[in-house]
Amino acid sequence: MKEKLMGLHKALPLVSPDAELREIAEVMLNSQSNLILVGKEGEQPQGYIDCKSVIRELLNEGDGAKVTAGDMAVLIKEENKVELNGNMKNITNQICKGMGLPLFASKNDIVTGAFSLEGIINELSKLHDAEKQKRIDTEGLIDYVLDVMPLGVVLAAKDGEIKKSNKLAEKIMKENLISSEDIRAIISSKDIRAIIKNNYNYDKVLASRSGSYYRVSTARIDLQDIDIMVIFTDVTAEYNLMKRLENARKEAETALAIMLPDHRIEMRLKSIVEYMDEYDEKTGKIKITGVIRDGVYKHVINMLKLIADAFKQGLTRLPGMDKNTIVSAAVLHDIGKVQPTLEVGDVVNPREVFEQGYLHAFRGASIAKGMYNIDDNVYYLIKYHHHEEKELPKDFPDYLLPMYRFFRLIDGLSAGITRRGSNVKIRINGSRVYVEEKSNFPLYNQKIEIDLYSGYFKKL
Ligand SMILES: [Fe+2]
Ligand SMILES: [Fe+2]
Repeated sequence: MKEKLMGLHKALPLVSPDAELREIAEVMLNSQSNLILVGKEGEQPQGYIDCKSVIRELLNEGDGAKVTAGDMAVLIKEENKVELNGNMKNITNQICKGMGLPLFASKNDIVTGAFSLEGIINELSKLHDAEKQKRIDTEGLIDYVLDVMPLGVVLAAKDGEIKKSNKLAEKIMKENLISSEDIRAIISSKDIRAIIKNNYNYDKVLASRSGSYYRVSTARIDLQDIDIMVIFTDVTAEYNLMKRLENARKEAETALAIMLPDHRIEMRLKSIVEYMDEYDEKTGKIKITGVIRDGVYKHVINMLKLIADAFKQGLTRLPGMDKNTIVSAAVLHDIGKVQPTLEVGDVVNPREVFEQGYLHAFRGASIAKGMYNIDDNVYYLIKYHHHEEKELPKDFPDYLLPMYRFFRLIDGLSAGITRRGSNVKIRINGSRVYVEEKSNFPLYNQKIEIDLYSGYFKKL
């Protein structure tokens, strides 16, 4: 920009303040300039003379009075000076202020020449045209990018008016009978108002009438007349895969359920609820946050899955571990459990409302022994599944300790999976079991190592 200003500036001829009219006229004619500066070389000029003044004085010359350049010089006002190194904003401001007057160019504050106003306007106009072209090119590029993107994109105002949408968004809306009214509904929903207010993203999946699934997400953007961007992502493949996995999970659970010895046990397990809760350290109370209707049944299924995983990894090869014993104990261990009736939102003292664990363990062991002909090993595992190792009676057989430790471990892990949605990974190496539990409640996240033979326990 500075270079352009230099280019628009023309040096003006200079005459000394003593110069007479004829000399002034000659200098002006030779320079082809309508202006002439009055002053001494290297100093701030005293003023300027324009050609009209020269003509006027030439016509008056007959009066006998001799005028010099110094007499005729008009003072150069500050607003008519432009510093050659100044910025364009100041220059345009000065042009506006001193419109109609000559614009002088100064270098290091000394006026040496003048600007052509027309030239500056021409230059500004060229600049404006270039900016306009740039904007048109950018808009064209955005349209192009929007159309080649593998996402449906709708740009809209906060009142729901669609300002722009790409080809894919239009195709998705047409194929899936998503009307602009639906878009308007998404945009004008409460959630969107919250987006506008809080600047966070909205995320939902729409099931289209043609069987496709589209994730609809929105983001707030701040452009002149566009407030929201609605994005459609085709997640049909993900959804179909999820459905297949869900079916596979159900099939696996059905297969495991077949292992249950009789229908009454299945019914009994399905009738015992489990609760999801939040513990308050200060009061020692819990708040019920969810009720899992067939909680104990799910808990048993999750234990059976963990047993299957461990045995697949070679736990059967370990002397002292017997699959049938552990499976029978898992199926029957909680059949004696009695739960209080609680609702979501109830705040209770768990010690007061929940029966102590060892009671249902003893009860369950007795029912299982009396009714289902279990052997002593299964009986001991059920009876003492709520006892800590140091609380075990003296007659508890030592050879059962590895199975007892494994049983208590998977009982706890399955509770985490069932009640807290934990993700549990176990890895078996001989008698060592490594466990990683990731829970929705970081407090319960754990990485541990346990040796089933020695009872060695370490947090990793
Ligand atoms: Fe139990
Ligand atoms: Fe249990």
